[in-house]
Formats: sequence, structure tokens, C-alpha cells
Amino acid sequence: MRVFVTGASGHIGLPVVRELLAAGHTVFGLARSEASAQTIASAGGEVRRGTLDDLDGLREAAKAADGVIHLAFKHDLALVTGDFMGAVTADLRAVEAIGEALVGSGKPFVNTTGTMLLAHSVRGRIGTEEDVGQTGGNPRVASETLSLGFAERGVRASIMRLAPTVHSSLDHHGFLPMIVAAARKNGFSAYVGEGAARWPAAHTLDAARLYRLALESAPAGARVHAAAEEGVPFRAIAEAVGQGLGVPAKSIALEQAAEIFGGFLGMITQLDNPTSSARTRELLGWKPTHANLLADIAEGHYFARASEVSR
Ligand SMILES: NC(=O)c1ccc[n+]([C@@H]2O[C@H](COP(=O)([O-])OP(=O)(O)OC[C@H]3O[C@@H](n4cnc5c(N)ncnc54)[C@H](OP(=O)(O)O)[C@@H]3O)[C@@H](O)[C@H]2O)c1
Repeated sequence: MRVFVTGASGHIGLPVVRELLAAGHTVFGLARSEASAQTIASAGGEVRRGTLDDLDGLREAAKAADGVIHLAFKHDLALVTGDFMGAVTADLRAVEAIGEALVGSGKPFVNTTGTMLLAHSVRGRIGTEEDVGQTGGNPRVASETLSLGFAERGVRASIMRLAPTVHSSLDHHGFLPMIVAAARKNGFSAYVGEGAARWPAAHTLDAARLYRLALESAPAGARVHAAAEEGVPFRAIAEAVGQGLGVPAKSIALEQAAEIFGGFLGMITQLDNPTSSARTRELLGWKPTHANLLADIAEGHYFARASEVSR
């Protein structure tokens, strides 16, 4: 297939490009800067210059493709300037433009959200692919609803719900580097209360493979879970980070979380989000093979480059 990938220069997008090329697909990736264009080209992908706000460009690219994977998100807006809703609104416009361009084509369109959108709607049990987020809860639920709506209009639309910790040595500014940066700054590695909140996890390369599998064969309307591990207690994550930095792990009160972790991260560290990927594995034959979260943290790469965190 000739695949259009947004976010192709990103932490997860670039391995997705490599995974697609290795499987014999051709790829053209959205690049908003010369640096991003070079990143995509160096992986062997073709470059489509443009931004998430260039809706005509997105429509044109989607029409020219045999399938679309959408990973771009305005993290700079959401996490640096704090305008999360602005980033969500831009995402919705982009999803609508891509989806409309694909109506009636039967082509695959894999959109991205996160398992965390189940944290409020699923309580006291493990979330599954059948579950949906609460309307009015996590704002990214709307992106899921919008893109899956295209499944009823002749698009093979599916959703990739990523675990909040997609981890590897390629992860330079996800939540884990932010947790490491907070521990470095505070001189201790924090967890809220007992640290019992469970966070699912997936290695970047396992997630990249799942994107290819979803593109190739997820049926219209599928919700796919990139959760290689169902849930790692946040206390275990904090302790592994503490060990890596040589600082103690310490319990904090919920009210301290915003100050200790910083705004966005402070809002989610206490969220319990155990998530199953049983149906995903059965549906797509996904078998994660790379290091689990704690083993990956123990490899040390997160501590060698924590100073790179930019948000
Ligand atoms: N990482 C995780 O653990 C995780 C967990 C749950 C969900 N997610 C979601 O997964 C997706 C990919 O995450 P990631 O970790 O790969 O993020 P990332 O490394 O920050 O990559 C984001 C990508 O989006 C592009 N982008 C940002 N703003 C853009 C704009 N205005 N126009 C065009 N492109 C733009 C970036 O381009 P530049 O290279 O030019 O910056 C980059 O290619 C996002 O939707 C994210 O929210 C990630």
C-alpha cells in the first residue's frame, strides 16, 4: 500500500514508517519543517510538506493514499502552552478532513488516541476494546467517536489506543521522560498515595508493529489496544525511576501532584487505567516481543538523556 502517515517524524511515527517500509509498503509522511522532512527522508519515506492546519493538503494527501495512519498531535500546544483543548480541536479538524476524503473508498484509516480515555469510564475493572470513554470526560474521546463514525461511511476506520507509557530509547519527551525530569528536579521520585494506580505500557517497536497490523487488517470500527502490559503500578515505576537516578521514591498526597509533577502529568498520575489487549491480540495476531516497562527503565537510557526533555 501507499500510506500517508501524519506525525511520521515523531517518537512513534518514525518507527511506524520503518515498520511499513520493511513490510513492503511505500510511505509519504507529513512534515511541518525541514528538520522533520529530513528525519522522514532518512528513514526512507517520501515527504509531504504541510501542517495539521492545512486541511486541503490533508484531504489531497488522503485521497492520493491507499491508507492513512494519523499520529500527529500538537503536543507543543497541549503540553508546553497548556492549551490542550486547542490541540484537540486541531486534531478533530484534521481527522474530519482525512475521513471525509476517504468516504466510500473502503481504504484503511488508523487514528490515534490513548487507553487513558477509559480511566474515568471504566472503574474497578480492566478496560477492554469494547469499552468507550465518557462523553465529557477525556476530550480525546471526541476524536475516537469522529473517526469511528467514518466506519459507517465506507472507510475502514479503526482506532489505536496507545498505553500512556509507550517506552523505548526512542522516547525523548513522553510521560516517562517527564516523570524522570520531575524526580531529578525534586530530588525524589514521587507516587500518589500508595502508588496503586496501574498504567499499561508498550514498547515503541511493538506499538509500531501493531499500527502496521491495524492498517493491513483491522476491520472497520475496530478499537485496538497497544497495551503489551495490562498495568504496572505507578509505585513500581516511581521506584524504578528513583533507582535509576539514585534518589528515594516517596509517597505524596494527591493535592501535591500538580506541583511535584507539573500541570498535565500531575492530573493523571493517580489515574488507575488497567487495560486488556486480549481482543487486539486475537484479532490481529499481535505478539509483543520487546522489553517490558521496568526492564526498559532498568536499561538506563532514560537517565542518560533526561536533560533533553523539552516539555
Ligand atoms: N508517546 C506516548 O506514550 C503516547 C501515549 C498515548 C497517546 N499518544 C499519542 O500518540 C501520538 C504520537 O505520539 P508521539 O509520542 O509519537 O508524539 P511526538 O514524538 O511528539 O510526535 C508528534 C508528531 O506530530 C507532529 N506534529 C505536531 N504538531 C504538528 C503540526 N501542527 N502539523 C504537523 N505535524 C505536527 C510532530 O512533528 P515535528 O517532528 O515537526 O515536531 C511529530 O511528527 C500522539 O497523538 C500522542 O498524543 C502517545
